[in-house]
Amino acid sequence: MIKVNFEKAEEINNIGKHVAGAKSHIADLLAGKIDMTGWVDHPIKYDKEEFSRIKEVANEIKSEAEVLVSIGIGGSYLGAKAAIEYLSDYYSHRTVRANGNTVGADIIRPNGVEVIFVGNGLSEKYLKETLDYVEGKNFYVNVISKSGGTLEPAVAFDKFKALVEKKYGHDALKKRIIATTDKAKGILKEEADREGYRTFVVPDDIGGRYSVLSAVGLLPIACAGFDIDKLMKGAEEARSIYTLLDENKNDAMKYAIIRNLYYENRKDIEVFATLSPNMQYFAEWLKQLFGESECKGNKGIFPASLNMTADLHSMGQLMQDGKRNMFETFIMIENDYDETRVKYNDKFFVNDLNDIALRATEKAHHTGNVPVIEMKVAEQNEATLGELFYFFEMSCAISALILGVNPFNQPGVEEYKKNIKELLK
Ligand code: PA5
Repeated sequence: MIKVNFEKAEEINNIGKHVAGAKSHIADLLAGKIDMTGWVDHPIKYDKEEFSRIKEVANEIKSEAEVLVSIGIGGSYLGAKAAIEYLSDYYSHRTVRANGNTVGADIIRPNGVEVIFVGNGLSEKYLKETLDYVEGKNFYVNVISKSGGTLEPAVAFDKFKALVEKKYGHDALKKRIIATTDKAKGILKEEADREGYRTFVVPDDIGGRYSVLSAVGLLPIACAGFDIDKLMKGAEEARSIYTLLDENKNDAMKYAIIRNLYYENRKDIEVFATLSPNMQYFAEWLKQLFGESECKGNKGIFPASLNMTADLHSMGQLMQDGKRNMFETFIMIENDYDETRVKYNDKFFVNDLNDIALRATEKAHHTGNVPVIEMKVAEQNEATLGELFYFFEMSCAISALILGVNPFNQPGVEEYKKNIKELLK
């Protein structure tokens, strides 16, 4: 379970101001009174038949291929990327933990394929080098786009489809391409039906940035060798806690309220500080979730991120002494170590130093007038990741609703997509 410490966030004493509002927002989310809230009950209501198919296809890919090329952008990319980084060992993409429960007892086993992400930008060099890298390998393609028409993934898909045809022949498209898209509409769905690709569905009532626990995230995560049952179980447990209408038991609610209180006090930047290098993409996922859900109508908290302790030696200056318009949310893995511990001296392991650095930094920033919220997660495994995803999705939705914005649309992103289509004409 995520342990949240609000001790250095004085606004905790004023949460009463928004408690009634937050509770009614949670009740509305649970009652489905707001559009695009399929993610709220998804951990208990997800399509079990599709879930089994995801595992079957992942097993086929793991037994036959070396690489899965995952094509997507934004919500169709960041969740899976964050998850695979969070769960992987640092120096081997093909080794994963057999037992996500206890770090010390884990056995390392090579059972996942390398998952490569493309279609998340328009760098010609990146695309070309990825095509070259994949060409010599045995690969499958998972193209992920809810709308089916987003430019960046469409460009990459075009090239990887051509590579499948060149390498394996036209008939292999049916086997090697898996499309994750809308159940009925969009050009990707039309093409999948025409060409006979296997498909998975991005549920109608779940928007891109809330979709990591659907096929969007699950297929790449399963292909990387991770246990998606445990991931969903973690999310299910999180759902049972973070939908409670009791501020003393529901830290997602408290956190959402506190963010708003800081915003009302002119703290309009939230810095997410992580202390494990493999959490950097989790921070990117957070930035998309909060930035796209909350920042609209000229309102919202700018989400930023820092990678500790490295950034203490650069951005630490700004955090300590720059403009006082931010608050900081630390996310720390308590047991950030492998089976073989690394000692610093007779008294401390290196992980203890990470914890001491956290305390020293929190104290310094708090003294420097940056309110601090601390979250600690016991260890990095599928269950804690499922919990983290759900915790932040729920707190982001509540937070945006308190602020008075719709957390589930993205008019700004649509504007860019519209402009680029115009220019391409
Ligand atoms: O959260 C969102 O809605 C966006 O970030 C989308 O996920 C992103 O733009 C990709 O869209 P699509 O899946 O339709 O290609």
